[in-house]
Amino acid sequence: MGEVETLEGAAVARIGAAEDLAALEALRVEYLGKQGSISGLLKTLGSMSPEERETEGPKIHALREKVQAALTARKDVLESAALDARLAAETLDLSLPAPDAPKGSVHPVSQVMDELAEIFADMGFAVATGPEIEDDWYNFTALNMPESHPARAMHDTFYFPDTAPQGGRMLLRTHTSPVQVRTMKAGGAPVRIIAPGRVYRSDSDATHTPMFHQVEGLVIDKGIHLGHLKWTLETFLKAFFERDDIVLRLRPSYFPFTEPSVEVDVGFAIENGPDGKGRRVLGGSGDEPGHGWMELLGSGMVNRKVIEMSGLDPDQWQGFAFGVGVDRLAMLKYGMDDLRAFFDGDVRWLKHYGFSAFDQPTLSAGVGARA
Ligand code: PHE
Repeated sequence: MGEVETLEGAAVARIGAAEDLAALEALRVEYLGKQGSISGLLKTLGSMSPEERETEGPKIHALREKVQAALTARKDVLESAALDARLAAETLDLSLPAPDAPKGSVHPVSQVMDELAEIFADMGFAVATGPEIEDDWYNFTALNMPESHPARAMHDTFYFPDTAPQGGRMLLRTHTSPVQVRTMKAGGAPVRIIAPGRVYRSDSDATHTPMFHQVEGLVIDKGIHLGHLKWTLETFLKAFFERDDIVLRLRPSYFPFTEPSVEVDVGFAIENGPDGKGRRVLGGSGDEPGHGWMELLGSGMVNRKVIEMSGLDPDQWQGFAFGVGVDRLAMLKYGMDDLRAFFDGDVRWLKHYGFSAFDQPTLSAGVGARA
């Protein structure tokens, strides 16, 4: 028996007996690696005479192929055995109860947005959305703030270096009002929507964060007037704060995209909290002794120019719009005092102020139900 046959018998036997993938790899290196014995045999072909090479060449190549095949076969066996072992060890009993910790909670912003959707759905409003990366036509121009309008400067806008398709600049939307324009352009009139979402301004202190949340409201129909706006806001705020004594005060104001514009204040009373400190509790007229008014939201009748730029005829369609801070609503309803904590992701805060996933706001069970 020649060298080749001896080598083959030994190699195939050892490979078949390899106990794990590491041992198998060591054998592969020993035979077929750069310094391996079969590789060594292949190198001897160069110094053989042509006749010798004709008989030895095919033998050595066949040896290499047999050893390679034995390695592959053993590898398959070892791998499927390893997989079987893992599957047996990793069985999960899905019928076991969930562990006590960690358990997630619903963030108050998400909860309040669900509450808003529920309240407004009952009044026939759909939920609309728009992009957070806007172009300045939707965020400003279409809302009656042309290029040099001073109100643009008040928005502390985050701009991108890119140019928008219309030629203006790309930016992070500074309010949810561009969704008014997008909704009218896409679906025409009539319109009854709320548009909750993230907005961005370069501003940061205890009551301002560079990202915060707003909800926009828009109604476009025939013969809509300020009375409809006031009723809608009153109905919404009574349902949201779950009290009937919410009193609103409408003050003349200015927004480029509404005419007339009204700032809405809500009456509050000062009551002593558990810590003995006075705290504001919404309800009642702000004009009563010991009461006050708190500025809550901006609103007004949609400016004719905005209706026109959104592709509708302002002689035919009128409406109102409002915008209110969602984080602010959450703070007023659930008593947090620092906005920055909303976005810190501190599990202790989330555990304290978060909601159970079972606390789905419904009008029948109450939009502020807490287990
Ligand atoms: N977009 C305004 C803001 O962010 C709020 C607003 C919305 C005012 C709709 C009037 C009408 O301050």
